[in-house]
Order: sequence, then C-alpha cells, then structure tokens
Amino acid sequence: SEASIKRGLWSSRMAFVLAATGSAVGLGNIWKFPYITGENGGGAFVLVYLVCIAAVGLPIMMAEILIGRSGAASPLRSMRLLIEQGGHHPAWRFTAVIGMLAAFLILSFYSVIGGWAVSYIGTAATGELVGKSAEAVGEIFSGLLGSPWLLLGWHTLFMALVMFVVGRGLRGGLERAVTILMPALFVLLLIVVGYAMTTGHFGEGVAFLFQPDFSRLTTAGVLVALGHAFFTLSLGMAVMMAYGSYLSRNVSIAKTSIVVSVMDTGVALLAGLAIFPIVFANGLEPGAGPGLIFQTLPLAFGQMPWGSLIGTLFFVLLTFAAWTSAISLLEPVVEWLEEKKGMSRTRSTVGAGVSCWLLGIASILSLNVWSDVTPLGMFSMFEGKTIFDLLDFVTASIMLPLAGLLVALFAGWVMTRETLQKELAMSSGSFSLWYGVIRYVTPIAVAVVFIYNLF
Ligand code: PFF
Ligand code: NA
Repeated sequence: SEASIKRGLWSSRMAFVLAATGSAVGLGNIWKFPYITGENGGGAFVLVYLVCIAAVGLPIMMAEILIGRSGAASPLRSMRLLIEQGGHHPAWRFTAVIGMLAAFLILSFYSVIGGWAVSYIGTAATGELVGKSAEAVGEIFSGLLGSPWLLLGWHTLFMALVMFVVGRGLRGGLERAVTILMPALFVLLLIVVGYAMTTGHFGEGVAFLFQPDFSRLTTAGVLVALGHAFFTLSLGMAVMMAYGSYLSRNVSIAKTSIVVSVMDTGVALLAGLAIFPIVFANGLEPGAGPGLIFQTLPLAFGQMPWGSLIGTLFFVLLTFAAWTSAISLLEPVVEWLEEKKGMSRTRSTVGAGVSCWLLGIASILSLNVWSDVTPLGMFSMFEGKTIFDLLDFVTASIMLPLAGLLVALFAGWVMTRETLQKELAMSSGSFSLWYGVIRYVTPIAVAVVFIYNLF
C-alpha cells in the first residue's frame, strides 16, 4: 500500500526475521524460561509451554504480523484503519492500547534484569568467578540484590542504552548486530551445554526438562506457561504488529513466523539444557526463582577452561539480546506518543524512557528494602507477591493473554476471510487450519485457562 511505501520496507525477508528474532530472543529465553520451568516442576510444564507456542503463540504471531502489514501504519493506526474500513466497533482499538501499556510495565522490570546481565560482564571479566563454590557464587548474587544503589546504577545504564537507540530511530544497525550476535549467542550456549555434559548430571537435567510428571503441574503453572508463550514470542504487545507494518507483500507470513518461533524455542531449550545439569551437579534448588541463572551459569564459567573469557562473552551477548528486546518494547510506545501527542522522537523517547526508569525503581526496591511489601496481598491471587512479582504476573499472565485473545478474535471474527486469505497467501488447506485455530482453538484455550485461574 501507499503508506508502507512511504514508511519504507524491510530490506529483505531476512531483515524482518532478524529484527523479529532480536525482539523475541532475550531475557525471556535465558533468564525467565529456566527459572519458571524450575519453579513449575520441569517436564510437564515444558510440554504445556511447547503446546502453547505451537497452538496459541504461532497463530497469534501470524495474526499480529498480518494486521500490521494490512494496516501498514503504527499498531494503533493500523487497527483504527482496519476498524474504520470494516465499520467495526471502535473499542477494538483497546487491543493495541492494552499491549502498549503492558510493554511499558514490562520494560520497567526488564531493564532491571538487563542491568543484572550488564553487571555480570564485569563479574566474569575480572576473574572473580574462577574456582568459586556454589555458596560463594550465591553470595555474589545476593550482594547485588541487596544493594539498591548498585541495582539502580545498572538499571540506569541499561535504560540509557535502550533510549539511545530508540531516540535515534535506528533500524539498520540493529539488523546487522543481530546477524552476528544471535549465532554467537547460540554457539556460547552450546559451549555451556557442552560443559553441562561433563558434570555427570546431564541425564538428570534432560529428564527434568523432558520427562513430564503431570502430578507436578498446577493450573497456575498452565497459566504461567501460556503467559510465557506470549512473553517469549513478543506477542500481545503490538510489537509484531509494528514490525509487520514494514514487511513486504511478497513475504510469507506463515514461514517467517515459524522461523522466528523455532529459533526462540531453540534458544530457550538450550538454556534449559545448559542450566539444569549444573543445578543438579551442585545440589541447587531448581525452583530457586529469578536468580537461577545467576547462581548456576557463573559456576560453569568458574570451572571450565577459558571460563572468564567465555563468561564475559556470554554476558555481553545476553546484554545484547536483552537490549534488542527492550528496544522493541519501547519503540511502539514512542511511536504512539509521536503520532498521538505530536511529540518529537527525542521528547517521546525521554518521556516514555524516564517514566519507565522511575517505575523500575519500585522493582529494585522490592528485591531488598521492600521485599516484604505485598501491596495486593489481600487477594489470594496476589498473595505474597512483591511489586516486582506483581508487575511480572499482571503483565505476562493477565494482560498478554488478554491482548492475545483480542488479537485472535479481531483477526478471526472481525476481519474478513478474503483479507486474511489475501494477506496469508497460503494453500487452502493450511489457511483453513490456521483460520480454524485462530477462530476457535486459540480463543477457547486462552479463555479456559484464564477463567480457571481467576475464579
Ligand atoms: N520476547 C522477549 C524475551 O523473551 O525476552 C521479551 C519481550 C520483548 C516481550 C518485546 C515483549 C516484547 F514486546
Ligand atoms: Na523470547
């Protein structure tokens, strides 16, 4: 369409895949996936997660890219255009609004964890980890969490890096960075998996990840798996819509979405294979929570040959992966401020970035000074949750599935079959499969998991 020509398209299908992968692969894969798998008992949770990726995540990713491409504008404008063209109820716009609000809330704590990754670059580089026991490694981590000022420093640095890129509206550089960094991250993960094989507990790690024990799966765990499918694929936040709007017409949305989903899942499973053998070899607790990778990977780097170098590189790459994801979280919010409020890019970036940074301070404090503060603790659903836990839970387990549900309903029930068919350009068999899934399977699955947990 004319709009997309004016906005410029991705230089190639590869460029889109790289940008989308840059957004998808991040802390969600290497930090969050292992620790929620550990907390939820392993195999059965992983299985549910994989089903959620295939049956809910992938079809919704296709729908988001499709909406973005056929609207060929920012997510909010794309939705408005499609709504007006079809004469639909204006309330559908809230799909993109919830997404943007979720992106804003997520970025506030994502940046705090990104800061942990940055700080471990130095920890690894100085050789501090060499020969350390599990206990000593744990102390380094609790030392970081116990210091609000240190955390604030790293959070500030991370957010500044994100604002720098978004403020300048860079896209080309990002594509190039991802081309080099993603394969490198993959290789380093393979090296750590190689080390994990030498611990003598590799089999135990594999069994924990892939042998389902359904007695350890709870309904809350199913909701976490569903929410994480959205989180890890960057769905429900208008990000893929925004990226899709730059996608050229002759690229297959289905193939592209499959490539991105497979790469994202691959990185998560590799991270699991790297971490759990180390957990069992050192008698650590799989359900240790958000600190899991910072209590296990440093042990590997302290023991393997060239560990300081490999560890440094690993945390540099983790920082980059987090950075490209965080950029994609801030971008739609900034675009919205520019479009809606007519602010300049610089002012939008500073406005959104600094507000996010401020909110991040609440997450920092809930790791130490406010670790006993549970603002919504009177509701059983939020019992024992700190501000940090709440932000994570409300975004990943409530807002994202809700936004995803709306996307599925909008694509499946509001947009016309002809438009969908034209955009997806698949064989009629594949199209019917996707159409059935997006109309029935996805909304029903999300609604059931949701209702089961909330009431
Ligand atoms: N998908 C990213 C991850 O797995 O770390 C996190 C993320 C990025 C979520 C961008 C949402 C988003 F819009
Ligand atoms: Na991810």
